[in-house]
Amino acid sequence: MKILITGGAGFIGSHVVRRFVLNYPHYQIYNLDALTYAGNLENIVDIEEQPNYTFVKGDITDAAFIDSLFETEQFNGVVHLAAESHVDRSIKDPLAFVKTNVIGTMNLLNAAKSIWNGDYEGKRFYHVSTDEVYGALGAEGLFTETTSYDPNSPYSASKASSDHFVRAYGETYGLPYVITNCSNNYGPNHFPEKLIPLFLNNIIQNKPLPVYGDGNYTRDWLYVIDHARAIDLVFHKGKHAETYNIGGFNEWKNIDLVKLLCAQMDQKLGRPEGDSEQLITYVKDRPGHDLRYAIDATKIKNELGWEPSVTFEEGLQQTIDWYFDNPEWLANVTSGAYQEYYTKQYEE
Ligand code: NAD
Ligand code: DAU
Repeated sequence: MKILITGGAGFIGSHVVRRFVLNYPHYQIYNLDALTYAGNLENIVDIEEQPNYTFVKGDITDAAFIDSLFETEQFNGVVHLAAESHVDRSIKDPLAFVKTNVIGTMNLLNAAKSIWNGDYEGKRFYHVSTDEVYGALGAEGLFTETTSYDPNSPYSASKASSDHFVRAYGETYGLPYVITNCSNNYGPNHFPEKLIPLFLNNIIQNKPLPVYGDGNYTRDWLYVIDHARAIDLVFHKGKHAETYNIGGFNEWKNIDLVKLLCAQMDQKLGRPEGDSEQLITYVKDRPGHDLRYAIDATKIKNELGWEPSVTFEEGLQQTIDWYFDNPEWLANVTSGAYQEYYTKQYEE
């Protein structure tokens, strides 16, 4: 097997690449990544010398480059994670999300269709998507695989569009595909623009914790290594032309999650109980903020036997420990362009 993983220098992609490289030494794993602000080769430095691993720096929006890469390497499988992934950035620059998430996905679909040329035996196009495509839930109910798409942010609209194209290539050209829609991930290597790593870093720095709106928004959190386990399983055992929802069975209101993080951080830092909570600052809400996401992951559980392996408290503690063990990683990613982003998003 020659497998192309896109976005493997990012948060989730790096855990997927590591898992595939180490668990399947007989596969050749190619990691294609443009190394945007979110891509970081430090995330996968431990596997870069493995004989079955190749890094390719390149942009999925460049159709000619993608065509020639597929032509040369003749991949049998694609696991597509590369994306612009942050909702707040999509509100400021929606077109960047259309380019990477929609056009980039199209380029990969076209290249796979072209080299596979109707011979689909042993081939698979795995598209990694999000629960945000389903829109917002009220206080009750869960997203299932048959919930209608109803995206509200430019990010989720671009991901929904890419999902539709993947499905359309399956229906129209018979391309063998599988899609997963996952809930909010957290864990090591998470870029500190997203809630958990941003607040963790701000607590260390004694900076305000900017809670959007009233903080009563709800997300379903999953440890990133459990997501990588699920991707491995679906890639190998999932049925063609199917969608699987992946979630943590783990809903938290933002404000409750932030208080738990503050308590665990106070312990870790040896600060008095309640100290970090004083940093909580309610700020202007995110436009179009989805009230609640929650996944019904029964299908993947029943069909493929997947379940999260850690509780949220355990996963959060492991995440905190990782950031404390890797201060240079945090220092590197928060220098330079990060400061400019932070000022624009939170201080202007
Ligand atoms: P991330 O932002 O951490 O990483 C994205 C990676 O893609 C980076 O390495 C970046 O350099 C690369 N990339 C971006 N544009 C590219 C381009 N044009 N060409 C090549 N590479 C490019 O993202 P993440 O959080 O790891 O998310 C990975 C995937 O999982 C995305 O498709 C996202 O929609 C999906 N997802 C994320 C979450 C989550 O909670 N983070 C949940 C569900 C689904
Ligand atoms: O649900 C899956 C999605 O989860 C993924 O598809 C996205 O790629 C990923 O970024 C994530 O999206 P969210 O918008 O839910 O994640 P974020 O960490 O940005 O925000 C989580 C919640 O915390 C959300 O309700 C907004 C809130 N928030 C976020 C930030 C960055 C704050 O209150 N303050 C903040 O500063």
